[in-house]
Amino acid sequence: MCGIVGYVGDRDASQILLKGLKRLEYRGYDSAGIVLINGGLKYCKGKGKVEKLGKMLKQNALAGTIGIGHTRWATHGEPNDVNSHPHLSESGKIAVVHNGIIENYTSLKKQLIERGRTFQSQTDTEVAAQLLEEIYTTSKGVTFEEAIRLALKQIVGTYGLAIVHTDRPDRIFIARKGSPLLLGIGDDEMFIASDASPIVEYTNKVIYLDDGEMAIVTKDNYEVKTIDDVALTKEVHELAISLDAIEKAGYPHFMLKEIFEQPRSIADCMRGRVNPDNGAIQLGGIEDVLDELVNARRIVIAACGTSWHSGLVGEYLFEYLAKTPVEVEYASEFRYRDPLIGKGDALLVISQSGETADTLAALREAKRRGALTLGICNVVGSTISRETDAGVFTHAGPEIGVASTKAFTAQVVVLMMMALAVGKRKGVLRQEQMLMYTKELAKIPSKVEYILEHIDEPVRKISGLFTYAPNFLYLGRSYNFPVALEGALKLKEISYIHAEGYPAAEMKHGPIALIDEMMPVVVIAATDHTNDKMISNIEEVKARKGRIISIMNDENSDVEDLSEFHISIPSTKDCFSPLLTVIPLQLLSYYIAVNRGCNVDQPRNLAKSVTVE
Ligand code: F6R
Repeated sequence: MCGIVGYVGDRDASQILLKGLKRLEYRGYDSAGIVLINGGLKYCKGKGKVEKLGKMLKQNALAGTIGIGHTRWATHGEPNDVNSHPHLSESGKIAVVHNGIIENYTSLKKQLIERGRTFQSQTDTEVAAQLLEEIYTTSKGVTFEEAIRLALKQIVGTYGLAIVHTDRPDRIFIARKGSPLLLGIGDDEMFIASDASPIVEYTNKVIYLDDGEMAIVTKDNYEVKTIDDVALTKEVHELAISLDAIEKAGYPHFMLKEIFEQPRSIADCMRGRVNPDNGAIQLGGIEDVLDELVNARRIVIAACGTSWHSGLVGEYLFEYLAKTPVEVEYASEFRYRDPLIGKGDALLVISQSGETADTLAALREAKRRGALTLGICNVVGSTISRETDAGVFTHAGPEIGVASTKAFTAQVVVLMMMALAVGKRKGVLRQEQMLMYTKELAKIPSKVEYILEHIDEPVRKISGLFTYAPNFLYLGRSYNFPVALEGALKLKEISYIHAEGYPAAEMKHGPIALIDEMMPVVVIAATDHTNDKMISNIEEVKARKGRIISIMNDENSDVEDLSEFHISIPSTKDCFSPLLTVIPLQLLSYYIAVNRGCNVDQPRNLAKSVTVE
């Protein structure tokens, strides 16, 4: 949600910032801008995508070797030229880019206006620039760095900030509370970014800023301190992401690339963790707390969006495989209740980005109340992964498409491995069961590969017939009920078609009223233990002339005969079926969105990594 990039060195800063913003564009794409220090501040910004900014810069090149840039997902003020970042102070000497929300900006702005300052934009960020300037120019003997600290003390809310001032033309100041920021260390050059994607092509040495920290960055040095001015020595981490992983590799969209990466990402997620020869599951990240997890009264899973859907699959898995009671919560609801969680409970948060504000807040709340906290994250070094007591990385590789695909399947694989590990340690799964489950799990990547090879064409054809359907219904049972929710979410997000997912039997309690000959109903009928019940539900849809598209196991003539269209996938154990059934749904939403001419990777109003509440 909004991207920040910064550069200081000897190269052409505007090109580095522009490229960095392009890589960060999946985080927000309402508007974009950069500012360079070269004598004074030179900036270029405007509504629209980074490509447009690039064209503006071609006409009006900015020269300089130090600068900051931003791509925006609007929170305060509509996306327009004036509201785009960077925001300058009244004198034009200070420029700020900001992720997060300044919650008390209205009162700060009012006070600043009363004291004579004039504002250009409706943003909360401009308040930071103006406040900073006021403190710096009116407080005697205060350095610019001190002024930043004083301003931050007055700001309530969240921020990842990058600031430049013409008085200090060799440096960038950054500060973090709630919105991620990292510093990339090069040879006589430094990079700043809100995530690693703009940095990987230049350096793999990074420092993650923590909340309450700031840094002063010049081309050959950096100082990290708390915002109370206590100097810190930070660990330098090595990035493991390659440049290939953040490029499209010949696919028209990141989303399609990421869908097709799933045989590999699922295999990577299991690598070294699932041993089908001896039935063992080895999860190093939770080994130290496994007994505590096994003895937990219950597991509460908190997450948002697609990660919440994987959490729902996790509920079925933990209850079936490990006999552990599980509750799944929207992180946003959990954090604002008075949740009954504490010592003896385990909170498991799931987050691709590891930065989602509500999920992070849920984690902190549960920690404060004494629960064991665990995380399933994709982004190594992310805040959630650093703040949980223990956790398992999904190792799906960078997910750039805004609609989550490979992160979902990898999260579900981790949940499967965790449930098996807990079930085994608890003594509810016998060795022969572990052998059977691990053998089947190990076959999943090749089954996904088979699906992708065989269903791409049929799904494409079906998508063509339903491109302009105004509504869609998705039905599933048991492990595939969350997949129905996920299929509906994918379609809404990228094609803007209204879609709902339901547990199939629940359809009778209301949604059945929607079914007529215009309504496509996607039925996930690929779990054996619910097959008969599912067939009854399909009959109910058919009796009302709904248009049935079913996802079924290879040979299921009952389902096939009832369906207008069917997509056959290989069978697996019921509890692993979401890993296979979700693939056709991802492709269906992708092709429908492409047919409708939608921007698949950057759907309207959305952004990857929701770092504001
Ligand atoms: C859906 C999607 C969102 C995210 C949600 C949580 O395709 O991408 O619903 O799943 O914003 O994000 P993470 O997993 O990063 O916490």
